[in-house]
Amino acid sequence: MAEAVAEGIKRKFDIFQISRYNKLIPHRKAGQCPLNRKDVVIPAGDLEKQRDFTRRAAGYLARLGREPRAFVDTYGCQQNVSDSQRIMGMLREMGCVLVREAAEADIIAVNTCAIRENAEKKVFGVVGQLVHVKEKNPDAVICLCGCMAQRRLVAEKIKASYRHVDLVFGPQALWKFPELLCSVLSRRQRVFSIEEEHGSIAEGIPVVRESGVKAWVSIMYGCNNFCSYCIVPYVRGRERSREPEAVLAEVRELAEAGYKEITLLGQNVNSYGKDLDTPMDFADLLAEIDRIPGDYLIRFMTSHPKDAGEKLFRTMARCAHVAHQLHLPVQSGNSRVLKAMNRGYTREQYLEKVRQAREAMPDLVLTSDIIIGFPGETEAEAMDTVSLIEEVRYDALFTFLFSPRPGTPAAVMADPASRAEKQVWFDRLLDAQNRISAELHQGYVGKTVRVLVDGESGDGAWPLSSRTHGGRLVHLRGGRELIGQYVDVKITDSNTWALFGEV
Ligand code: 5AD
Ligand code: SF4
Repeated sequence: MAEAVAEGIKRKFDIFQISRYNKLIPHRKAGQCPLNRKDVVIPAGDLEKQRDFTRRAAGYLARLGREPRAFVDTYGCQQNVSDSQRIMGMLREMGCVLVREAAEADIIAVNTCAIRENAEKKVFGVVGQLVHVKEKNPDAVICLCGCMAQRRLVAEKIKASYRHVDLVFGPQALWKFPELLCSVLSRRQRVFSIEEEHGSIAEGIPVVRESGVKAWVSIMYGCNNFCSYCIVPYVRGRERSREPEAVLAEVRELAEAGYKEITLLGQNVNSYGKDLDTPMDFADLLAEIDRIPGDYLIRFMTSHPKDAGEKLFRTMARCAHVAHQLHLPVQSGNSRVLKAMNRGYTREQYLEKVRQAREAMPDLVLTSDIIIGFPGETEAEAMDTVSLIEEVRYDALFTFLFSPRPGTPAAVMADPASRAEKQVWFDRLLDAQNRISAELHQGYVGKTVRVLVDGESGDGAWPLSSRTHGGRLVHLRGGRELIGQYVDVKITDSNTWALFGEV
């Protein structure tokens, strides 16, 4: 079917650039490869050219004789959500209206995640289905972008077997989406652009923010840590920080526009500023942001425990705008496994950071990521993770079964434990965490807390959703007019996942 569609519109395969970087540089060497700032920041002239391409793309799309429609489908982490907001911004500048269904759209962008095999399988399913959209509307342009697009094997598979996909580009090429789209629209040829190696920083790309309440601000891109299980450093390039002035200007603009919650994003925000010409650390950036006037809260993610320390915790404690919330992924509670994961800290060092953070902020809300079933992990080692979470008592956890990512060191490590055994360990971890979360949530009942009402919940009995300063979800009774406001609520009930309250 896909072949028939491709034949029908008679396109030829056009540009296929694959990165040398995609050959997966051995992790230790690549981590030592510093970026030259001059090669990273995209010059203003190049960005201006993209605005020309935006106008040209608008011209091609105007030939439809009606408003062109675009649909952006997002998978994965907040960085992808933020990237999608930029893709939507560029599409809107081309004159597109944004729609909610692929079937209605003339341009479809699927922004993908490569972190686990399941995420990839899901995307292949979704992209496979788009062949039907192409049958109905052969002029529709289908784009695959994000982390999966940067993987050589994925690009090859799309090239050979998903011939209805017109444009494939990785996260590093996002800033030249207008140019890539123009190539497709003008010549009706397939374009694959995943050639860039270490990544770039492009300022001034338009953004469509989905709510007037919460906003994402990327402060840095890429990762140098090469945790042995993780694909991110291979697809998102080396760590590179935005200039502090650019971050401050964006936060100031959002605060002035009335945004109430601003989340700073980076794969490891604690590495912020190391690559700047005038180095500055993340704690100093937070302190600078905090001086911006307004009624807003700053959150951030993700913090690598090896780089988080007392300076950060003390800065968080004294900055009025900074939430007392920390996502500090531990991954494992066993020091041997942590070493095999290349995490750069031991169980004891991690626990000491938690102690320091709580000393600085006794009301800290703490969350974490855990991987169960890392290659070679034994039952006793997995139970060390369970004992760590009992000791730390996180407010919530994001738990994952290890998923081998081709090209990473962990994917070729001996992995003797069966899936069924790992599932048993995983379930024990979940049971322990569910109990802890329920106990911690029960502690809120009867208290009055300040929350930001951030939207509707879709539940008739508790129509509003809101978040405490620490980021815990509170379902509320109340009217829509409260959305976007801070209100004091009395917590009346709780369960494992959420709190329930009344204004
Ligand atoms: N398998 C399972 N979980 C993974 N993560 C990253 N890579 C893998 C993998 N190969 C998890 C880590 C990380 C989170 C974003 O995803 O816990 O912190
Ligand atoms: Fe992946 Fe995070 Fe480790 Fe970077 S720090 S390699 S993104 S798990």
